Amino acid sequence: MKIAVLCEQAEGERRVALVPESVKKLTAKGLHQVVVQASAGAKAFHPDAEYTAAGATVVQTAAEALKEAQVLLGINAPAPATLSALPKGATVIALLRPSDALKQALTAQGLTAVALEKVPRTTRAQAADVLSSQATVAGYAAVLLGASALPRLMPMLTTAAGTLTPAKVLVCGAGVAGLQAIATARRLGAQVTGFDVRAAAREQVASLGAKFIELPQPTAAAEGQGGYAKEAGEALTALIQSTLGEVVPQFDLFVTTAAIPGKKAPILFTKAAMERLKPGAVVVDLAAETGGNTELTRAGETVAAGQGKIIGPLQLASTHAQHASSMFSRNLVTLLGFMSAEGGALQVDEKDDVVGPMLVSLNGALKGA
Ligand code: NAI
Repeated sequence: MKIAVLCEQAEGERRVALVPESVKKLTAKGLHQVVVQASAGAKAFHPDAEYTAAGATVVQTAAEALKEAQVLLGINAPAPATLSALPKGATVIALLRPSDALKQALTAQGLTAVALEKVPRTTRAQAADVLSSQATVAGYAAVLLGASALPRLMPMLTTAAGTLTPAKVLVCGAGVAGLQAIATARRLGAQVTGFDVRAAAREQVASLGAKFIELPQPTAAAEGQGGYAKEAGEALTALIQSTLGEVVPQFDLFVTTAAIPGKKAPILFTKAAMERLKPGAVVVDLAAETGGNTELTRAGETVAAGQGKIIGPLQLASTHAQHASSMFSRNLVTLLGFMSAEGGALQVDEKDDVVGPMLVSLNGALKGA
């Protein structure tokens, strides 16, 4: 198959969908051709020469890359105008979060679209799961961002100038990003506590050597389908907010990652709770993009709260673009393996248990429409 990779257009995006290592893998047996737009990998520190050496053809414009392409790989959804430059019947694979305009373009061009954000949480899908790989980077990056914004050090230090006590870190939402944040904060020497609504998370937090905040009353199972949490009802939300609100003054750094797929992020910390932040405390809210886990979070901004501040970063995985791209790219190679027939031809099987649930459209026909 002929695969195209373009420069990402989203503001602040530094990642590239395919890194040279993956190009080499795809082109090795002569089954696939890869065409890359010049500078597509530059912000992830992969110059064009690396792509050429790996077997890709580097072209100047998006139009040249898209000519005769059967598959377009991206990090974020391409602009609808880009899709109209694809040959009819081609396949686009990216974090699509499809808008109405994008859906229209898919139909008009008779395109097949695979939305990476719809990856099922199954063992077979794991190696193709960009949500997990990018959440891993974001969880790590959130702790580094928070640690650099703190007016104190993370580890306990015994020095000739006296002893420094370790920073106290609270990680709320112990999914993929949260567990990575806990592990990273522990490596930096902080005292770490975790919190999640899913019962399974308690053991995972403990296995990383962190404490866990228990709710004062037993709660109904908060586990939804596929290992995700389900939305907490009013009573549970109030209980979470009062429990977490109580402990706010005890912590120096908060990393919040709580999310419900396809929904606005749950509010874990009210305005009143955030007003209790101690001097210099920092909240890094990874849920900022979907509304934030605090009432005061503003996406893409840092706001003062109490005697501390709340950082609402966007596209945090992009700050470590080289490794984030490398994981994203390996995920895509696995996914393409699920979509390849003998001899390397593209084969999109609606019944495939990984690819099927990720389809937004098949040859222009919208799924679930
Ligand atoms: P996510 O990004 O949807 O949510 C992050 C965390 O927020 C989750 O742990 C969730 O329980 C928590 N949360 C939601 N509402 C909350 C609330 N009100 N208060 C506190 N915490 C709240 O989830 P993520 O990280 O994508 O994965 C969640 C779980 O899915 C994993 O721990 C794992 O069990 C499973 N998973 C399975 C995979 C596979 O089998 N291929 C791949 C990735 C994850």
